[in-house]
Amino acid sequence: MSQNNVTRAVVIGHGHYLPERVVENEEFTKTLDTSHEWIVSRSGIERRHFAAEGETTSNLASHAARAALANAGLSAEDLDAIVVATSTPDLTFPSVGTMVQDQIGATKAYAFDVQAVCAGFVFALANANALIVSGQAKRVMVIGAETFSRIMDWTDRGTCVLFGDGAGALILEAQPGAGTSDDRGILSTDLNSDGRHRDLLYVDGGVSTTGTAGYLRMQGNQVFRHAVEKLAATAETALAKAGLSGDKVDWIVPHQANIRIIQGTAKKLGLPMENVIVTVQDHGNTSAASIPLALSVGAAEGKLKRGDLVVTEAIGGGLAWGAVVLRW
Ligand code: UT7
Repeated sequence: MSQNNVTRAVVIGHGHYLPERVVENEEFTKTLDTSHEWIVSRSGIERRHFAAEGETTSNLASHAARAALANAGLSAEDLDAIVVATSTPDLTFPSVGTMVQDQIGATKAYAFDVQAVCAGFVFALANANALIVSGQAKRVMVIGAETFSRIMDWTDRGTCVLFGDGAGALILEAQPGAGTSDDRGILSTDLNSDGRHRDLLYVDGGVSTTGTAGYLRMQGNQVFRHAVEKLAATAETALAKAGLSGDKVDWIVPHQANIRIIQGTAKKLGLPMENVIVTVQDHGNTSAASIPLALSVGAAEGKLKRGDLVVTEAIGGGLAWGAVVLRW
């Protein structure tokens, strides 16, 4: 790669928020034919957080945003844009982004949402990167925030034990780079969709159909099959676009849906589990919030260090899937 001065979107702050209420697997056995053993062995999930009554996606997102601002040593007025990845907005409109803008007082930022379900944060990161490299923003808050507990069918044991609520946020800043893979910041992105598979994972309600929010429906084993196959492929493609190979990766920070998918993807990429940030046991599947939650937890625990090469990858409803390669 030639050594040209380029603009890179560099992570300068991170934060996360989890609702207070923790629900252990055992709690589901009171109302469903399920067990802690089944949930752990099939998914790796031990507990998840659920938002309190009246606590909305924008509330969770704003908590995470404030934590990221504090971590970066910035005030909300330093932001040019806010991009929120969510499939569980407070209202059909306006966007959660504009609600966060108001709640944190980011008076100079334009704000909008990105909806790519569990792949939402990867899509939002890629869009924020595009805003920065094209000169449309210098500092962008990118948030993944969800209240999936609000779209659970509590009688469907195949889905309701898997999901949780939470939010994570990164702040990206335009910084000069040399144009090589040694630069800090986002180095490459790879985004994909295949709408033929919409029936594998969807919500059975919506504005222009039922006029209701609906409930999540999933053919879990079918999604599983696609996930194992597509996640390693998109991570490898993103690495190749950055001129890098798997052996250079310090951390995989995957979407946290299922420990078996995470292990299978790491194996395909030739990386040991020591190089993978795993939070699925404590958070469950928080859809678009899972990657920024894992990044923020990994950084707070001192695992992610400045200069580390990080690959994030996710797949979800659509299907939509993708990966982002960045140097922390
Ligand atoms: O984040 C977006 C993308 N989503 C994903 O990546 C999720 C991908 N899928 C998965 O994580 C897994 O497919 C699941 C964890 C959802 C399910 O694991 P599985 O090994 O694929 O199980 P299965 O769906 O094939 O079900 C096996 C059995 C079934 O019983 P029969 O038909 O074999 O008698 C289910 O009825 O397990 C049964 N089952 C349960 N048993 C106890 C399903 N849910 C439960 C439950 N407790 N909660």
